Amino acid sequence: MGERKTSVVAIINQKGGVGKTTTAVNLATAIAAVGKKVLLLDIDPQGNATTGFGMPKGRKLHSSYGVLLGLVDPLEVMMESYVHQLFMIPSTIDLSAAEVELFSQKDRESKLKKAIAHLDFDYIFIDCPPGFGFININALNASSRIIIPLQCEFYALEGLAQLFSTIQSVRNTINRSLIVSGILLTMFDRRNSLSYVVAEDVRNHFNELVFDTVIPRNVRISEASSHGKPVVLYDVRSSGAVSYIELAREFLAREQNT
Ligand SMILES: Nc1ncnc2c1ncn2[C@@H]1O[C@H](COP(=O)(O)OP(=O)(O)OP(=O)(O)O)[C@@H](O)[C@H]1O
Ligand SMILES: [Mg+2]
Repeated sequence: MGERKTSVVAIINQKGGVGKTTTAVNLATAIAAVGKKVLLLDIDPQGNATTGFGMPKGRKLHSSYGVLLGLVDPLEVMMESYVHQLFMIPSTIDLSAAEVELFSQKDRESKLKKAIAHLDFDYIFIDCPPGFGFININALNASSRIIIPLQCEFYALEGLAQLFSTIQSVRNTINRSLIVSGILLTMFDRRNSLSYVVAEDVRNHFNELVFDTVIPRNVRISEASSHGKPVVLYDVRSSGAVSYIELAREFLAREQNT
């Protein structure tokens, strides 16, 4: 059993391309940088968090696939990253088969929770795939917190009702202690009036659930991932990096108040 209380945080939104991976990678890095022991768990078969970190994709068992299916101890597959105190469990394309393989297992919703229960970290951040499959149900069951990145675009709110109803049914059935840490506005474009409209709309709907920190659209963020680095390491002065560091501060403050 671990000594510290590990906070498991799923970065989730069933919509694709809203900034989940970018948020997972940068928040994990920024929080490790303030001295916390952090694990970044990539459970998306696309493996964008793995490559975004410049890490090699895992081999079938030696990856989140093996962990999710309970075939290997996460301690055996986690890799130390180039950031002090930041560890990573990589993904593999084999994970795409896990949805089907989980389906026939009787504890199919709690495999991940059981697999990581003995780990000793301050924070485990889970980079979730888009969609609502068993992989994501496992993430919601294993987590105590959720962060929902929301892209500042016209259809931002669409699908959010479905996400909240999924969260509610997870709470009612398998994980009563699941809390939404916050909704994060991403890819905010200062030159586009639609960004302001969407941000205001989201704040009117969700009030203090929305993080004060807003992530701007910033080309350094996409450049950074193509260099296999989080933007907070690639260009710490860029607006993207500054806002992710601010998010880390706000997230930690929220953690202390709950
Ligand atoms: N604030 C930003 N400014 C500019 N580009 C961004 C920003 N956030 C993310 N991106 C880019 O947008 C793309 C999608 O981001 P990301 O991969 O984080 O989304 P995702 O929600 O994880 O997507 P998926 O659902 O496919 O996993 C990536 O190319 C990323 O580099
Ligand atoms: Mg992603």
